[in-house]
Amino acid sequence: MVIRSVCVLGGTGFVGRHLACLLCAQGIKVRVPTRSADKAKQVLTPLPVEMLSADVHDAAQLARLFTEVDAVINLVGILHEQGGQTFRQTHVELAEKVIEAARVTGVNRLLHMSALNASPDGPSNYLRSKAEAEMLVQASGLPATIFRPSVIFGAEDNFLNMFARLAKWAPVLPLACADAKFQPVWVEDVAQAFVHGLNDASSIGQRYDLCGPQVYRLRELVAFAAACRGHHPLIVPLPNAIAYAQAGVMERLPVKLMTRDNFNSMQQDNVCGCAFPFGIEPARMEDIAPKYLSHPESGG
Ligand SMILES: NC(=O)c1ccc[n+]([C@@H]2O[C@H](COP(=O)([O-])OP(=O)(O)OC[C@H]3O[C@@H](n4cnc5c(N)ncnc54)[C@H](OP(=O)(O)O)[C@@H]3O)[C@@H](O)[C@H]2O)c1
Repeated sequence: MVIRSVCVLGGTGFVGRHLACLLCAQGIKVRVPTRSADKAKQVLTPLPVEMLSADVHDAAQLARLFTEVDAVINLVGILHEQGGQTFRQTHVELAEKVIEAARVTGVNRLLHMSALNASPDGPSNYLRSKAEAEMLVQASGLPATIFRPSVIFGAEDNFLNMFARLAKWAPVLPLACADAKFQPVWVEDVAQAFVHGLNDASSIGQRYDLCGPQVYRLRELVAFAAACRGHHPLIVPLPNAIAYAQAGVMERLPVKLMTRDNFNSMQQDNVCGCAFPFGIEPARMEDIAPKYLSHPESGG
């Protein structure tokens, strides 16, 4: 089936903006519901995207959003529970509602964003809720494809940029989970994988891990991000007991740099041994990230 129109939930986010751009470039009509029309306008202009203020947790609104679209892409996700948003509501219950609305409206393609290491036995509530959503999607009987990226980097990321910013103010950086491993993947490659998946019927029923070409320890990523901005902080790995306690304090701050649930996620290496799907050769972080990290104002 040729996909001509897509509703992208979470289309105003970091991944969503890149994906919307690629979909528009392919001549696909893109509909993006949002909780904030102002934010959507700011981040999606001048793309020819249909932006609609909507509550995607409302079944009736969701069904209206899915009317006359060929496919739905669900990118909605949170890294921290806050302001009444829970992992259960955002990952699991929303996935349930998306499946039901897709059935009711006859949408016959669903692409679902999960996360690497999502598993019912995963070490964190984030990973377990992502796994529960995956299971709902897989059991739905809909023609669905699931994507599971490692940490994603790109000009507006909240990961490398955060460390680059921190390094400016902290010549000594006490670091939790300094030896945790990651395989960062470029946001453009993630968006490309979704576009390929949309157009490739053989991806139906598949679950793809999305990782970049190289594995790094967290301390290496922090040193790299800092060095791109000309900083060379002393990175001091924190023992786990102190790191966990520190996360407990940090999660009470208005800006959450780290929570105990994040700490738990990092107890498992965020890496995969498989090739990137669809014949895409994922970009090297060293070829992309210095271009944006070297700008002092860059960041999500
Ligand atoms: N970034 C990474 O490194 C990474 C790694 C692995 C997996 N993922 C997954 O990839 C997906 C996209 O990540 P991202 O970095 O693009 O996230 P993001 O920038 O935070 O964007 C997520 C979007 O989802 C919408 N949203 C968030 N919470 C919502 C809620 N409670 N109800 C309704 N809409 C909500 C927001 O749209 P509005 O504000 O316009 O409503 C937001 O723009 C997520 O599912 C995330 O778990 C990300």
